[in-house]
Amino acid sequence: MFNKRTKIKELLSIEPDGREVTVMGWVRSFRNNQFIAVNDGSTHQNLQVVVSLGLLNDETLKRITAGASLKVTGEMVASLGKGQKVELKANTVEILGDCDPEKYPLQLKNRPTLEYLRENAHLRFRTNTFGAVFRVRHSIAYAIHKFFNDKGFVYIHTPIISASDAEGAGEMFRVTTLPFDKTPRNDDGSVNFKEDFFGKSTNLTVSGQLEAELGATAFSDVYTFGPTFRAENSNTTRHLAEFWMIEPEMAFYDIEDNMDLAEEFIKYIIQYAIDHNREDLELLAQRLIEEEKQLPQDKRSELGLIEKLEFVLNNSFERITYTEAIDILLNSNHYKKKKFQYEVKWGIDLQSEHERYLVEKHFKKPVIVTGYPAAIKAFYMRMNEDGKTVAAMDILAPGIGEIVGGSQREERYNKLIERMAAMHVPVEEMQWYLDIRRFGSVPHSGFGLGFERMVQFVTGMTNIRDVIPFARTPKNCEF
Ligand code: 4AD
Ligand code: MG
Repeated sequence: MFNKRTKIKELLSIEPDGREVTVMGWVRSFRNNQFIAVNDGSTHQNLQVVVSLGLLNDETLKRITAGASLKVTGEMVASLGKGQKVELKANTVEILGDCDPEKYPLQLKNRPTLEYLRENAHLRFRTNTFGAVFRVRHSIAYAIHKFFNDKGFVYIHTPIISASDAEGAGEMFRVTTLPFDKTPRNDDGSVNFKEDFFGKSTNLTVSGQLEAELGATAFSDVYTFGPTFRAENSNTTRHLAEFWMIEPEMAFYDIEDNMDLAEEFIKYIIQYAIDHNREDLELLAQRLIEEEKQLPQDKRSELGLIEKLEFVLNNSFERITYTEAIDILLNSNHYKKKKFQYEVKWGIDLQSEHERYLVEKHFKKPVIVTGYPAAIKAFYMRMNEDGKTVAAMDILAPGIGEIVGGSQREERYNKLIERMAAMHVPVEEMQWYLDIRRFGSVPHSGFGLGFERMVQFVTGMTNIRDVIPFARTPKNCEF
């Protein structure tokens, strides 16, 4: 058996009682031909391995370079050096894989930039920052399943290939096996999708919501957690073409119930990370301070990363209507000084600058906005009594903007048909969706949390490309 080893996270917490252990990992640094800092990814901390003089020949010593992989067996002893309680006094050192220091992209004199690491995303897991980010990402994913499982929700795997445009925004990646050169055509010149793999036009899903609704009207409470795809040509620090979304869907929930659940959910995730990823968050907090040193004082975060998270935990989210939000914007000095780039008036889709003003300048905490104009929201949202707004709710977070989008769904068959017609949603193809309004329709609600935006919020990473292992963005599909 090869994998007879103890992970570093565990070793760092034991007593230096001389017990024999085996460690495997990658060299972070090697000092004085004596001290090897080894990391195995279980924690951002390294284990100091001490090689006594004469244990290894010169040939072997030369091969201990940053990035090389090792197997070390030795005794756990008290460390004389600063910075660690225990260290490993090596008895045997075996080099599992060499690493040419001339060619290793992470062997840099200066601290590599995030941009450089993005270009070397295949190796960036090995850095402290990305080690921390992706351990937190993992932890949050686990917390999400735990949250819903503990509440009795059923996890539904909604399809990735779909024939419908759930959001009606038309920003979809086509899925086809038709040849580009000899595309089969109908008499009128349009593409004959009957010849395509599924016999119809298909795309990668933009949301699992519509299928989740089918689940909710049987299990009561369900959620999806999977990849979603949007062919929006947005090159921003908050958009990905492939991102993960969590979409709970609950029968017998109105918009208020929906907001309560979403707020509880976000706070649960934050609390979980604070409780289980303290060390990683401290490292990321420090990183953020370093990053912000380049900014003028007034552009820096007022609170440290962990203080920000604690602040969010300890305060309830502000709840306002879209109409109130527009009034706040119109009455702001920011507006009077013409500092908004986009127009502000009732009916607009809130732009990122508007969202950030509300959250970061006005309320200084997460805000839930409800009652958006029907015209700018998806067809499935429930029409309010006023006949012009819908029971939508978006949650806006400091530094991120929209982190959650959700709504109470239109459960009234006739109203839904009306909305579909008004928004040019093909009613014929959506009979399966309409069936749940025909057969025992119930008030129900749900929302979608952008997973990467949540990871950004918790880790304080400014660019969404730095919280997903391999980012897919316009003109970029490496690795
Ligand atoms: O607001 P959206 O488009 O809502 C839906 O898809 C609904 N079907 C959700 C539901 O009610 N079940 O997207 C939900 C969230 C956004 O608030 C945002 O956090 C994230 O998904 N999101 C993106 N994240 C990264 N890159 C993109 N291109 C994103 N588009 C949306
Ligand atoms: Mg949205």
